[in-house]
Amino acid sequence: MERKFSFEKITNHLVTSGFYYPSSEIYGGLSNTWDYGPLGTLAKSHLQAIWRNHFVRPNPNMFEIDPAIIMNPKVWEATGHVANFHDPLVDCKDCHSRYRADKLIKENHPELDTDGMSIADMQAELDKGGIKCPNCGSTSFTPIRQFQMMFKTYIGVTEDASAEAYLRPETAQGLFVNFKNVQRTQRAKLPFGICDVGKAFRNEITPGNFTFRTREFTQMEIEFFFKPEEDQKWFAFWKDECLKFVEKIGLKQDYLRFRDHEPNELAFYSKGTTDIEYFFPSLGWGELMGIASRTDYDLKRHQEYSKQDLTYLDPETNERYIPHVVEPSFGCDRLLLALFCDAYDEETLPNGETRIVLRVEKNIAPYQVAVLPLSNKLNGEAKKVYDSLAEKFDAVFDTTQSIGKRYRREDAIGTPYCVCFDFQSLEDHMVTVRDRDSMLQERVPIDSLKNYLSSKLEEKA
Ligand code: GAP
Repeated sequence: MERKFSFEKITNHLVTSGFYYPSSEIYGGLSNTWDYGPLGTLAKSHLQAIWRNHFVRPNPNMFEIDPAIIMNPKVWEATGHVANFHDPLVDCKDCHSRYRADKLIKENHPELDTDGMSIADMQAELDKGGIKCPNCGSTSFTPIRQFQMMFKTYIGVTEDASAEAYLRPETAQGLFVNFKNVQRTQRAKLPFGICDVGKAFRNEITPGNFTFRTREFTQMEIEFFFKPEEDQKWFAFWKDECLKFVEKIGLKQDYLRFRDHEPNELAFYSKGTTDIEYFFPSLGWGELMGIASRTDYDLKRHQEYSKQDLTYLDPETNERYIPHVVEPSFGCDRLLLALFCDAYDEETLPNGETRIVLRVEKNIAPYQVAVLPLSNKLNGEAKKVYDSLAEKFDAVFDTTQSIGKRYRREDAIGTPYCVCFDFQSLEDHMVTVRDRDSMLQERVPIDSLKNYLSSKLEEKA
């Protein structure tokens, strides 16, 4: 599949326009760590709001919570993360470059399926001798060793084993451990969901590809609980809901696919996992989110390790059981990156100029409207229009450079509507509203501007 613009071109644009900055840049940065700038922060919060509007608000049986990042370390023993959340690591014996063994094998042998490959099989592949270090070409590697991906920290003043804790590697466990609290305090009946939006941390060996793989990232996760015999029904339901959501935020169908995990990739307790993948420019297919049928595994393990009763008393049958769960887990940063990759466009105007347009979904764009006075003499009156719009929309007021340059700037950051206040506006109390995509302009009374923009923003792109 061909993409028109390279990943590098798009991400350079996002950095130079203030969506992202290299983190701690004045100190030389920190490997593949990115800060969201003013534009990226707005867009990310809009994406989260749409997620909330889609999955939480219309559903009286969905409860959003905000669990702690540092949890009791026993949580991670119960889930198996302490024992199993490892990446297979190898070093090149000649240049000492460090790799994830599965990625290294895949790079050398794209035809091999490395997802779910055992350590022994990976070692056997390396031992064949044909795998080359991408940095120096050597075929000599250290044996594979397991690398714990959870970030360890210490609670309190002592730094000994008793004070060890972890930054959560997924937000999901904060949802499971609160199952009973939410069920009891909210009088929730099955089926119901608990969800959150928050940061997760993984000490990735090979972070990279901009915000696609970082050590700190935002997840939007749902644990949806139901009767044990309903796995199939809810798995299908959530696949459908997630597809509707990615369509709603405007991702192009051509670059999306569902990928069902092969039996050898599935955790032993899982009844199925499907990823929604996106075809990124220059990178190819990458996972945006996963929908996992996790049965009763997590609650059972927490019940065993916490020795607390996590069963549900079914009011219809009077039976007690541990509910089953389906987990739709979105990576917020990857979704946003995919949206920007989809949205970036360049077109040549009749005067030969190139216009960069970020055709991002209108309600995800950092600003929904820009107010641009035609002349500095009009700044005072135009600012009043801005003030009134800013009560309702994320708006920007820009008075620097020519109107043409300001239009270009707004196009390039995706602002769907520009409002130009000109000298005639003083007379007729109307402004010109310009559409980002069509560049068509319309005269609109200032009095009805808010309603006009609201209905435009509700229109499907
Ligand atoms: N609770 C399930 C879970 O955490 P996951 O597939 O490991 O499942 C879910 O993560 C989503 O989180 C992924 O689909 C991806 O979008 C995002 N994600 C995972 N690791 C990431 C990383 N290192 N950088 C950015 N996003 C990541």
